Amino acid sequence: MTQDELKQAVARAAIGYVVDGAIIGVGTGSTANFFIDELAAIKDRIQGTVASSEATAERLKKHGVPVFDLNDVDSIAVYIDGADEIDAQGAMIKGGGAALTREKIVASVAKSFVCIADGSKLVDTLGKFALPVEVIPMARNAVLRELAALGGQPKVRTKPGSDEPFVTDNGGNLIDVAGLSITDPVALEARINQLTGVIAVGLFAARGANVCLLGTAEGVKTLS
Ligand code: A5P
Repeated sequence: MTQDELKQAVARAAIGYVVDGAIIGVGTGSTANFFIDELAAIKDRIQGTVASSEATAERLKKHGVPVFDLNDVDSIAVYIDGADEIDAQGAMIKGGGAALTREKIVASVAKSFVCIADGSKLVDTLGKFALPVEVIPMARNAVLRELAALGGQPKVRTKPGSDEPFVTDNGGNLIDVAGLSITDPVALEARINQLTGVIAVGLFAARGANVCLLGTAEGVKTLS
């Protein structure tokens, strides 16, 4: 099976976690895109969605799936999204697709988080994937120095083909921290959250996934 087929398989399996008549939180990335395409086929069963990025909102709307502003909804039944890395406890690194802050906000409101990923994303220890941190632009270099002091190799993410800092949907910049071995994800998440100028860190540990659907050659495996 190709990686895309594995992603499609978990996206299809995630439909089993969609709650009829409810608002569904929808993530960002290639796996989430497969989920959006599956969700479109059952859009009449749900009230609508809250999107974790402009790209996701656009894809949902193209399919005719209602997209609500988070301020206009009281609750989200379930949040369904991919991950860049996930461990057996459900802690994740996210933000490779730059949407970590909105992903974290939507996930924090949702009653449960279902992570969908191909099997290559499951790791023993988080940190091989560089950890994304969204920052207020004026604090970019100050936060970069603080992150270097934590032991990693932080680098400002740039726009494709340019030296200019990448700008997120929120007007923030991103720093990717390579070389970390994250043995205590909850503690590191709290520590980075406390740095002045940080908007959000792409460690989802204090609030990790409740269920993880992993695509493997033997079929979809469920970790919960
Ligand atoms: C977006 O900011 C990310 O958190 C994605 O959810 C994550 O990078 C997974 O993306 P893929 O499904 O494309 O691997």
